[in-house]
Amino acid sequence: MKIALLGYGKMGKEIEKIAHKRGHEIVIIIDKDNQDDIKSETFLSAQMAIEFTTPETAFDNISTCLLSSVPVVSGTTGWLSRYDEIKALCEKQQCAFFYASNYSLGVNIFFHINRELARIMEHYADYNVSMEEIHHIQKKDSPSGTAISLANDIISLISRKLLWINESNSKDDEIAINSIREGTVPGTHTVVYESEADIISIEHRAKNRKGLALGVIIAAEFLINKKGIYTMDDVLGISNK
Ligand SMILES: NC(=O)c1ccc[n+]([C@@H]2O[C@H](COP(=O)([O-])OP(=O)(O)OC[C@H]3O[C@@H](n4cnc5c(N)ncnc54)[C@H](O)[C@@H]3O)[C@@H](O)[C@H]2O)c1
Repeated sequence: MKIALLGYGKMGKEIEKIAHKRGHEIVIIIDKDNQDDIKSETFLSAQMAIEFTTPETAFDNISTCLLSSVPVVSGTTGWLSRYDEIKALCEKQQCAFFYASNYSLGVNIFFHINRELARIMEHYADYNVSMEEIHHIQKKDSPSGTAISLANDIISLISRKLLWINESNSKDDEIAINSIREGTVPGTHTVVYESEADIISIEHRAKNRKGLALGVIIAAEFLINKKGIYTMDDVLGISNK
C-alpha cells in the first residue's frame, strides 16, 4: 500500500518502521515545515493517509485528505468536538475514515472489559467510579483521548454518572479523571470502583509505542478499498452492544 504520513513525530516515526516491516511504501512524509505538500501530486498518489499531528491541525488535515478522496487513518487526539463534521464530509465524499483514540490491541480489549464491568456496576450504586491516567510530560492534551473514551463508555452504561471532569474531586453524578504527567510514561489508565467495603480496579499499562503503531497499520490494511467510518471494534470484531 502507498502511504502518505502526516506528522513525523514520535508516532509517525514508529508507524514508518512498522509500515516498512509489513511491506508498505511511504510515498511522502508531511510535517509542519512542508505542510503545502498535502496538495502535491505525490500526496494524491497515496492510497492511504495516516495522520498523527496535533489537536490544532488534525481537523484541517483530515478534511483536506477527504476532499482529495484520500482515505484517512487518524489517531490525533483533542479535536473530537468536530468529529461529526468529519463524518458528514466523509459520507459526502464517499470516502473512508478510521479513528481510534487508542490503536493498541490491549487497550481495545481493555475498552471491552471496561464496558462489561460498567454494565455490572450499574446495579451497585454503593460504588463510586473514578479514573487516573498517566502520560509522558510532552503530552499536550489532558485528559488523554483514551481516558475520555473510557469515561464516555461508563457514562453511557451507568445511569448515576452524567459527565466526567478533569479533577480529583467530583460530585455524585461526575466521574473524576485525575491526569498525571511524568517522565516518559507511554500511557497508563486505571478505572477504580470504590465502596466503603472494598475497591475493584482495572488497569492497562503500555510498555512502549510498538503496539500502537502496529494497530495503526492493521487499521490502514483494513480500510483499503472500503468506504465509510470505522473504528477498532470493526477490526477486532468486538461487539459494543
Ligand atoms: N490514537 C492513538 O493510539 C495515539 C497514540 C499516541 C499518540 N496519539 C496522539 O497523536 C498525536 C501525535 O502524537 P505524537 O506523540 O506523535 O506527537 P509529536 O508531538 O511527537 O508529533 C506530532 C508531529 O506533528 C507535526 N505537525 C504539526 N503540525 C503539522 C501539520 N500541520 N501537518 C503535519 N504535521 C504537523 C509536528 O511537527 C510533530 O512532528 C497526539 O495528538 C497524540 O495525543 C494518539
